Amino acid sequence: MVQSAVMIVDTFQKAKENLDRVGYLDIKHSKEIDFEKEFIKLKKSKDAVLLAHYYQEPEIQELADFLGDSLFLAQAAAKVESKIIVFAGVHFMAETAKIINPTKKVLLPDLKAGCSLADSCPSNEFAKFKAQYPDAIVVTYINCTAEIKALSDIVCTSSNAKRVIDSIDKNKRIIFAPDKNLGRFLMKELNRPMILWDGACVVHEAFSFDKIVKMFQQYPQAKFIAHPESESPILDIAHYIGSTSGLLNFVQSDDASQYIVATEAGILHQMQKVCPQKEFIPAPVQDDTCACSECAYMKLNTMQKLYNCLKFELPEITLDQQLMIQAKAPIDRMLELG
Ligand code: 13P
Ligand code: SF4
Repeated sequence: MVQSAVMIVDTFQKAKENLDRVGYLDIKHSKEIDFEKEFIKLKKSKDAVLLAHYYQEPEIQELADFLGDSLFLAQAAAKVESKIIVFAGVHFMAETAKIINPTKKVLLPDLKAGCSLADSCPSNEFAKFKAQYPDAIVVTYINCTAEIKALSDIVCTSSNAKRVIDSIDKNKRIIFAPDKNLGRFLMKELNRPMILWDGACVVHEAFSFDKIVKMFQQYPQAKFIAHPESESPILDIAHYIGSTSGLLNFVQSDDASQYIVATEAGILHQMQKVCPQKEFIPAPVQDDTCACSECAYMKLNTMQKLYNCLKFELPEITLDQQLMIQAKAPIDRMLELG
């Protein structure tokens, strides 16, 4: 994408001042730049790789060296040998990559790319919650801060949560945080009680049960598929429930030709790409005036920000050494499970 320019900010110091102000490098360039082309060149010359989540804009997904769901990206981050990781995702994902592979420089194009689920679990409050159940094993969904990971016994993603919980002695009590919807889904699936933290994702809680049911009349042949971060009534009517990559695999192996999809709309790009003959319809949300099935945090990343962040190697994810060591152990336990 070629963009024209107004202002030059080409010194490291100016870039840093700009970053402190807005959380990303809001730089206008003095000449027209093809951000995609220049990003690819920089990636090569600086020995960098691009990791991107399925919820990114299609143009970013297409450029990624590693594209996938949270589990795949954590596994990929562990194996990266290049000097720099540019993470087109949200803050907790880039932080996880840094914790797993601490000698690499990890860049996040926009520091404001947060996550409502991670925000719903502040570490001071979670520490008090945990103290009420001293005998419990703490399982945390990867969508949380490094501080929460450091308070955990084992981490999981939506792809491996069942396996992680099954690996824990049946006689042990489990605290599951921060996503109560995923937690409830797992309790039902595994027939195992857990102590749940009351957190949720704004995107997956935005879907409308009533509108989805109405849509079944409009598309009687369609199958309804949902991410387990969605609320229970929605999951109860789904033909298939799975992580982002689970949903993508399902539509490829299943024989239906239409799907109503309840997860962040970015995944529809890959679904359409791998199944061009099928139709994918984003599940309707409660509020017709918003694009609520898009994660506003994920969508903060743009090609221009990707280019600027690699050019100036800012913003960089940095973490306290001790915190990294404590947060790494529960992630390693998850990765060891495969
Ligand atoms: P997965 O990538 O595990 O499907 O999780 C979805 C999500 O909400 C990421 O933020
Ligand atoms: Fe967080 Fe939800 Fe966005 Fe995923 S989709 S990053 S869980 S707010």
